[in-house]
Amino acid sequence: MTTPDLAERFDPLSSRRGAEWWRTAVIYQIYPRSFADSSGDGIGDLPGVTAHLDDLSDLGVDALWLSPFQRSPQKDAGYDVADYCDVDPIFGTLADFDDMLEHAHGRGIRVIVDLVPNHSSDQHEWFQAALSAGPGSRERARYLFREGKGRRGELPPNNWESVFGGPAWTRVIEADGTPGQWYLHLFDTSQPDFDWSNEEVREEFRRILRFWLDRGVDGFRVDVAHGLVKAAGLPDYTPPADAASMGGEEDDVPYWGQPGVHDVYRDWHGILAEYDGDRALCAEAWRPTPDDTALWVRPDEMHQAFNFPYLTTEWDAAELRTVIDESLRAFSAVGAPSTWVLSNHDVVRHASRLALTAENPQGHGIGPLSAGKPIAALGLRRARAASTVMLALPGSAYIFQGEELGLPEAVDLPDDARQDPTWFRTAGERYGRDGCRVPVPWSSTEPAFGFSPTGESWLPQPASWAVLARDLQQDDSASTLSLYRTLLAARRAHRLGAGALEWIGGFPSDVLAFRNGNVTVVANIGDAAIPLPQGNVIAASEPLDGGELPADTAVWLENA
Ligand code: GLC
Repeated sequence: MTTPDLAERFDPLSSRRGAEWWRTAVIYQIYPRSFADSSGDGIGDLPGVTAHLDDLSDLGVDALWLSPFQRSPQKDAGYDVADYCDVDPIFGTLADFDDMLEHAHGRGIRVIVDLVPNHSSDQHEWFQAALSAGPGSRERARYLFREGKGRRGELPPNNWESVFGGPAWTRVIEADGTPGQWYLHLFDTSQPDFDWSNEEVREEFRRILRFWLDRGVDGFRVDVAHGLVKAAGLPDYTPPADAASMGGEEDDVPYWGQPGVHDVYRDWHGILAEYDGDRALCAEAWRPTPDDTALWVRPDEMHQAFNFPYLTTEWDAAELRTVIDESLRAFSAVGAPSTWVLSNHDVVRHASRLALTAENPQGHGIGPLSAGKPIAALGLRRARAASTVMLALPGSAYIFQGEELGLPEAVDLPDDARQDPTWFRTAGERYGRDGCRVPVPWSSTEPAFGFSPTGESWLPQPASWAVLARDLQQDDSASTLSLYRTLLAARRAHRLGAGALEWIGGFPSDVLAFRNGNVTVVANIGDAAIPLPQGNVIAASEPLDGGELPADTAVWLENA
């Protein structure tokens, strides 16, 4: 008799409906420009991804998410798309994409791609046509052009601020050479927002979804999925002084989480359902709570949403217990899996974030002059423990390239190397996100640590990363890479993604302890060692000596 287990193994990309791989998958985020450079220009590319698929297989991930590789002037590292249906030459060609996809699928690895529907690049042919066509045209109606306020229209149409700092409006020069209308850009000036009340925009994105689905992608990570629809009349809004830039904390923001946005995803749900193989949508929706986030994954909408409330939780047992409970409850109430994530290309890497010594608002980043620099050894120790907890939780987990090596944030990047628009738009007041985007070290001895054959690297890699290079970690059983490999293999063997969590009492309040199937997870988040509970050790985030579970250490035990 063929068990479902064997069927999965022999046909890992089975197109059976109902397989719903995304409910339990470990999804590895590739930030293509920083993963592996095959051409030698210092920017990673798609053949670089293909060349390292065996390493990802060996790590044990189920799927990849690729940040944008579509045609783009790269003003926001590809999140400014000029042609949604082509590959940017710096990353390769459509043929390179197909080749990568085929080789990933050949190894049983699914691939989801980034989709950026809130805005395009200002170099997109639609935006260029809108500039030429002038006010009142069909071309302008695809974006959010408005007349300015003031006697001569010299003031922006409202007071909205860009996520990257500065005003969210830019005034254009009309064909006759005079200052004219303003267009909205919630991000950089090079990223004009589409008008999603326009049916033409909706139709264009249906075409784009089909283009990639027809090529065989397993789904999409949807950028700024809470931002597409703006409140009617575009009313003024002043965020509280300490607000998170992407709207993680406030309600009733006229550009985040407007109810009409959900119609878009109901529509897309129907398009994905026309395809076989359980294609999936994952929302990047920065919402204040798991309940708010769960609105994006109601049964007829998306399949997953990033759990940013979890990502932003401090290293604190009570707070973690609360957010885990709230997540499992809120997502299961709508029939969706919870997701878990600790790092990505927009946040300070968790090997640094968990040991900061001062407040660091999301998006500000850390640099040479920041107050409260991270304590490196403590950060790595906590990061290993945090990942050990995360990978035992039921649902789907996201890993950001390099976290499996324990990479910290690159804090000491020189000013002239920085490229994040945040840095420029705030005149250096916010460092932005370059520190988590530094190219991955593959080899301790090669130029650019094996990232690129010429030694070029679009952001400089800290010399101290030599000891973190993958080749040194590969066969070292104490390395972070070995820890991740062990956790992923055991997660699969014990089917933890499909399991259920049960808290275990009887521990001090700063200890997190739970059972998922026959695996017991204990994380000591306090300052003092505790006795190691009974059971066979499957994995531990630090060496365990003398029958104790030290501070900032997590362990998986097979129930005795
Ligand atoms: C998302 C992306 C981020 C980008 C922004 C604008 O938050 O993750 O990198 O800058 O959207 O597209």
